[in-house]
Amino acid sequence: MNITMIGTGYVGLVTGTCFSEFGHRVTCVDKIGEKIDRLNRGEIPIYEPGLKQLVDKNVNEGRLQFTTDLSSAVPGADAVFIAVGTPASRRGDGYADLSYIYEAAKELASCLNGYTVIVDKSTVPVGTARQVERIVREKNPDADFDVASNPEFLREGAAISDFMRPDRVVIGVESKRAEKLLRDIYKPLYLIETPIVCTTIETAELTKYAANAFLAIKISFINEIANVCEAVGADVIDLAKAIGMDGRIGSKFLHPGPGYGGSCFPKDTMALMRIVQEYGENVRLVEAAVEVNAAQKARMVKKIRDMLGGSEAGNTIAFLGLTFKPETDDMRESPSISIIPALMERGASIKAHDPKGMEEAKKHLPKEVQYCNNAYETCEGADAVVLMTEWNQYRALDLEKIRKLLRQPIFIDLRNVYDPRTMRDLGFRYAGVGRGAMPD
Ligand code: UGA
Repeated sequence: MNITMIGTGYVGLVTGTCFSEFGHRVTCVDKIGEKIDRLNRGEIPIYEPGLKQLVDKNVNEGRLQFTTDLSSAVPGADAVFIAVGTPASRRGDGYADLSYIYEAAKELASCLNGYTVIVDKSTVPVGTARQVERIVREKNPDADFDVASNPEFLREGAAISDFMRPDRVVIGVESKRAEKLLRDIYKPLYLIETPIVCTTIETAELTKYAANAFLAIKISFINEIANVCEAVGADVIDLAKAIGMDGRIGSKFLHPGPGYGGSCFPKDTMALMRIVQEYGENVRLVEAAVEVNAAQKARMVKKIRDMLGGSEAGNTIAFLGLTFKPETDDMRESPSISIIPALMERGASIKAHDPKGMEEAKKHLPKEVQYCNNAYETCEGADAVVLMTEWNQYRALDLEKIRKLLRQPIFIDLRNVYDPRTMRDLGFRYAGVGRGAMPD
């Protein structure tokens, strides 16, 4: 199968590479020449575990190539995937900016040659595939094509394994011909019996938003319950374990923390709220999840302040981890972006370390943040340490050493990596999230 992938951002690059690993011939197209040059030199613009090896392998075996030239990449393709960015619109109204999608549709329209399925891979509002269809039809009335929606459910940091071993594949199509072609593309997954949900285009488009909104609600729910645990003296870890054992609830995504971030949940929840408004409907639970998430970040600032005796002014705070989750260098909507400046505004000095995210962090955080080479250097002379992102290298810290390096033994664990009792026995003043049960 010949596949063209338009957009070499996170989704396009991972998806295109994985399709080539399936055995398809894939051409990835991007307008940004510098990005394509880098990819052609074997440099990967994002950090995603396993991606470089897979790109190298498939480029060497001749199944994967990168180009800026759409007009040479589209003719002859069985499927053209649109995986360009859909950032929140500049108007700040929560709408997704679809101009890149429509631009791509216009450009590819005149290059079509033979039957082609045009597939929306980017997360797009309901109705976008129909717009793409209209644009292509207008530009090239004789073209032989179908449109389809094939949302992605990849997690950053685990994208390759999510792609190769998905819980399901969702395909929104209207014609049997398009359905067969997309099923053929995903054929390698039949071996591991991956369920394929074949449905209408609108259902597929909405499925993506519903999945992310549900997960955002689940996180905000456990964050609120964690806060209740702190109030009543209960322990959220045992509670989450106990409710998660109920198959109807499930144990995943019940980890309380500083609030969800990333390029997906914040953007997609806002976009869903705007979409339903247009139809005169409501998603009150999603609105509540968004509010709870903002409040959770503010609550973390207060937690740190309280641990420092009511004021952060004049204190140095060491941050371990800055990215919105481990195994990525992505800083988009990371809770650290709101928590750190809030502390600095009230007179705190910040030292920070992140295994992969420091270059990106510099673009998002005040320039006074002092970046360090490792966790120990970060903690040296600080009044408190905040474990912000649960990178593996922070899971087995030499805690005795950390305590000695700190000016005050204050450990604020926003990811509940450490055991409160052990921390107390080591001489720390420790706070987790939702760890209200006092250890004896
Ligand atoms: C999310 C979804 O999990 C993917 O299925 C989806 O494809 C992707 O968005 C997307 O729309 O492209 P991602 O944003 O990469 O993936 O990261 P997650 O692992 O879902 O984490 C998102 C945020 O939630 C992180 O800040 C994480 O720390 C937080 N989180 C997650 C919690 O606070 N608690 C949890 O129990 C789980």
